[in-house]
Order: sequence, then C-alpha cells, then structure tokens
Amino acid sequence: MWLRHGRLEGKLLAAFKAVVAQALAWVLAVALFAALGQPIAPTLGLAATQGGLAAGIGALLQSERWWIAIHLGFSPLLIAALRLDLPPAFPLAVLAGLTLVFWTTFRGEVPLFLSSRATADALIGLLPWQPGLRVIDLGAGTGMLLRRLAQARPEARFTGVEHAPLPYLAARLNARGLGNFTVERSDIWQRSLTGEDVVYAFLSPRVMRRLWQKAEAEMRPGTLLVCSSFPIPDVIAEAVVDEPDRRSTRLFCYRMQGGNPGKDGHFRFNSPN
Ligand SMILES: C[S@@+](CC[C@H](N)C(=O)[O-])C[C@H]1O[C@@H](n2cnc3c(N)ncnc32)[C@H](O)[C@@H]1O
Repeated sequence: MWLRHGRLEGKLLAAFKAVVAQALAWVLAVALFAALGQPIAPTLGLAATQGGLAAGIGALLQSERWWIAIHLGFSPLLIAALRLDLPPAFPLAVLAGLTLVFWTTFRGEVPLFLSSRATADALIGLLPWQPGLRVIDLGAGTGMLLRRLAQARPEARFTGVEHAPLPYLAARLNARGLGNFTVERSDIWQRSLTGEDVVYAFLSPRVMRRLWQKAEAEMRPGTLLVCSSFPIPDVIAEAVVDEPDRRSTRLFCYRMQGGNPGKDGHFRFNSPN
C-alpha cells in the first residue's frame, strides 16, 4: 500500500514541479521583459525566454531530463504554432502522437530510450548457452535490441513486453521474419517472469526497487536479471559490464538467489567456444 502511495506521490510531484516551473518562468519572463522595457506580447522572444527559465527552474527542482526538454520547447512551439495559423486540430494531433509514443512517461516513470548496438553485443555475450533459453526485455521499445539478440541466438526464445502503442507496432515490425522473437502488448508489472532465464530491463531509477521486488518474487533461482544503466538500490551486482558507447552504458547483472554461480562464486560470461 505504501508503495502505491509512494508511486502516486512521485507522479503528482513530477506534475506539480512541471506546473510550478512553467508558471514561475512566465512570471519571471514577463518581469524581465517589463524591466528591460520590452513589449509584453506573445512573441517568440518572450516564449524562448520563458522556455529557458522554465528549463532552468525544472533543473533546479531536479526534474527528470525529459521534463527539461519539454520546458524548453513548450512555449516557443505553442507560440510558433499560433503564428503559423495551423488548424485547431494540430496541437491535438501532436499530443496524440506523443502519447502514442511515450504513453505513461508524462507520469514521470519510464521514457523511451533505446539501447545501443554496443549494449546489444554485450548482452549477447552475457546470454548463457543452455537449451531452450528464454529471454525477456521488459519495456522492449522498438524491439531493435531483441531483434539483434534473436538473430544472434536463433535457438533461444525472445519476448518483448511493451505498452506504448507506436513502439509496440515498431517492435512487431522488427520481429517480422524471426520465429524466435515475439512481442506482447502489456504492462511489465502484470507480466510474470517465472519462465524466463534472462530478464533485461532498461527502465528508470524510479522503478528499480519495484523491479527487484518483482524479480525476487517471480524469477527462479540461478536466473539472471540484467539492468541497463540503473542499478538496483542497496543490492550488490554480481557483475558490472561497462560499454564503450556514447552514454557509457553500464549493465548491472544480478543472479537470483539460490543459483549456481560456478566454482569461483562468480557470474559466468558464457561463450560457445
Ligand atoms: C528506456 S526504453 C528501453 C527500450 C528497449 N528495452 C531498449 O533497451 O532499447 C523503456 C521502454 O519501456 C516501456 N515501458 C515503460 N513502462 C512500461 C510498462 N509499465 N509496461 C510496458 N512497457 C513499459 C516504454 O514505453 C519504453 O519503450
């Protein structure tokens, strides 16, 4: 129960911070223009100033990165759209498009970022060589990552779980022609992990504790949870793999308890050779 409240509070807090940043930025931008003797009118200059101030306030309030980008662009785009005399349905269409791609990201949880090719290659190196291996990507995005994995390991089975409509459709397209790659449109928190040997998650720092609780409750002993970029708080990873990609991605590998990590007590990076 407290967890539910905690998540709700987190979402409300993110929305509250966004409203505060936007409102305060308008007040400051208008005050600045008045002090400088500039006309107070819905100009792009005023909107850009407001956007910069809102982004700065958002950063000071420690909003997530995508909120900062939204603050920067929101007012200038609104004014530009008004200037262009676009059809009234245009903002609605943009909003609908963004919703189809980002779905619940606005509530402050997990945005769409894609794993790099280097991460895919590293993950391929982490997959154990065992018959009937089952791998799941929680929040599969466009499915590019799983496509690469499924091509590299045709004998293993890969499942992508994605709830945002457009990324889900893209993942379905990426799964085409690959008999070992399926995509499910569902909520990762409702999807059981019981039958999976490797669970991959590139999500957000906000949800890592919840993910660990789910993994501990559902994953079998000896199976592997790989978290990209965000570690599980207060849990020591069995291995950490550093990637030489643009984001300097780190993969945090957790072997579920009761497993058989090998003679040296460490997680094994399996290879076919
Ligand atoms: C950071 S992206 C990772 C994409 C992909 N796994 C990769 O590594 O390239 C996270 C994805 O998780 C999806 N997602 C977030 N919360 C989800 C949920 N509760 N159920 C299903 N998908 C979710 C988002 O829509 C987004 O596509």
